[in-house]
Amino acid sequence: MLHQVHQLNKIANKPERIILGLMSGTSLDGLDIALCKVSESGICTKVQLLHFETIEYDADFKKDIQSIFCKEVVSLEKLCLMNAQIGLVHSQIINNTLAKLNLRNCDVDLIASHGQTIYHAPKSKHQQQKFGNATLQIGDADHIAFNTNIITISDFRQKHIAAGGEGAPLAIYGDYFLLSSKDENRILLNIGGIANFTFLPSSLHIDEVICTDVGPGNTLMDAFIQHHFPNKFYDENAAIALEGNVNDDLLKALCDHKFFKQTFPKTTGQELFNFQFIENALVASNTMNITIADVMATLNYFTAHTITAAIKQNIQQKNYSIYISGGGANNPLLIKNIQELLPNISIQSTDVLGINPNAKEAILFAVLANETVCGKSDFYQQPNTKFPPITMGKISFPR
Ligand SMILES: Nc1ncnc2c1ncn2[C@@H]1O[C@H](COP(=O)(O)OP(=O)(O)O)[C@@H](O)[C@H]1O
Ligand SMILES: [Mg+2]
Repeated sequence: MLHQVHQLNKIANKPERIILGLMSGTSLDGLDIALCKVSESGICTKVQLLHFETIEYDADFKKDIQSIFCKEVVSLEKLCLMNAQIGLVHSQIINNTLAKLNLRNCDVDLIASHGQTIYHAPKSKHQQQKFGNATLQIGDADHIAFNTNIITISDFRQKHIAAGGEGAPLAIYGDYFLLSSKDENRILLNIGGIANFTFLPSSLHIDEVICTDVGPGNTLMDAFIQHHFPNKFYDENAAIALEGNVNDDLLKALCDHKFFKQTFPKTTGQELFNFQFIENALVASNTMNITIADVMATLNYFTAHTITAAIKQNIQQKNYSIYISGGGANNPLLIKNIQELLPNISIQSTDVLGINPNAKEAILFAVLANETVCGKSDFYQQPNTKFPPITMGKISFPR
C-alpha cells in the first residue's frame, strides 16, 4: 500500500529513528528487547540505548521451542504452529513492554526481529554435495507487524547466505560500524549459546576484519546442568564448576572433534554442541564416573580453551584488547579461564565501550534494520569484502 511505503520513506529520512531490536538466541533463555535511538548509518551510525530487558520465556514456551530445536526430525505440524506462535508471543511481549514504559506503539519507528533459530546447517554440518549453506529462524514477522502496528524488519540471515555467507555471525556489520577504533586493535567476543568474535584492526581496513564462530559458548555448560538439575537452567556464577577440577582425559576427548580442525571462518550451533556431544566425550575418555562438578569445571575450561585457541590462531597482531558481551560475560570462572589463557591481553566487558553486554546482540539487529531502511549506497556498492556488502532483512507492513 502506497501509504505504508511513504511512511517507510519518512522513517528513512528522519534524523533519528526509534528501533526496537529483538534477539532470542540459541540459549532459549528469553527475548532480549533493546529500545534504541539510532541516527545516521554505516560507520557513522550512532546508537543510544533507551531501555533494555530480557523477558524470560515461561517453562511451557521453552519446552515447545525445544521440541523443534536443532533436531533432524521434528513434527512438521508443530513447526508450522510455532512459526505463528513465536510471532504472536513476541508481539505480546513488545506490547506489554511498551505499555509498561508508558510508550505508545506509534512512538516506535521499526522493530528489528531476529526470530528464533531452530536449525543452522552450514555445508560443513550437513555435508550434502547438492545443497548449500542453510539456516532457519522462525517467529513470523507479519504477525509481529500486524499485532504491534509497527513496521517490522526480520529474517536477516537469508540474504547473507544468498550472497555466499553462512548466515552468521552477523555481528561483523554492527561491530564494524559501531566499535572500530583507530587507537587499538579490538576483539569483540560474544559468548551466547555459541561463541563468536569480531576482530577490528586499528587500520580500519575492511579486508583485515575477521569474524567467526569459535564453538560452544554457554551451551555445553547449560545442557549438562539442565540434564542433571531439572530446576536449574544454567550454572549461576559458576557455583558448581568452582567446586570441581578439570579432568584432562575428558578435556582431551572434548577437543577431539572435527569442527576444531575446520578452517576459519566457520559457524556452528547446538546441532553439534549438545548433551550428546558431552556424553560421547565422557564415554570416549572413560570418565562417566567423575563428579558433576568436575564435568562442569572441565566444560567451563574447554569453552575458554576453544575461544582462546581460535583467537590465537586467527590474530597475528600482538596487541589487542578484548571486549566481552553475551550471557557468558556473567560467568566469573569462564572469564578467569579466558584471562589465564591470554595472560597479557586486556579483557573487559563491552560496558566500558558504552554498550550493555547483555543488550549488544539486540542492538546490533537494530543497527541492521537501520541499514535496511537508510544504509548509504556507497557502502553497499563496494566489491565483495570479507563480509558481503548487502542490506539484510524482510519488510513486514502492519496492514
Ligand atoms: N550469572 C551467570 N552465571 C553464569 N552464566 C550466566 C549468568 N548469566 C547468564 N549466563 C549464561 O548466559 C546464557 C544466556 O546468554 P545469552 O547471551 O542470552 O545467549 P543467547 O544469545 O544464546 O540467548 C545463559 O543460558 C547462561 O548460560
Ligand atoms: Mg539469550
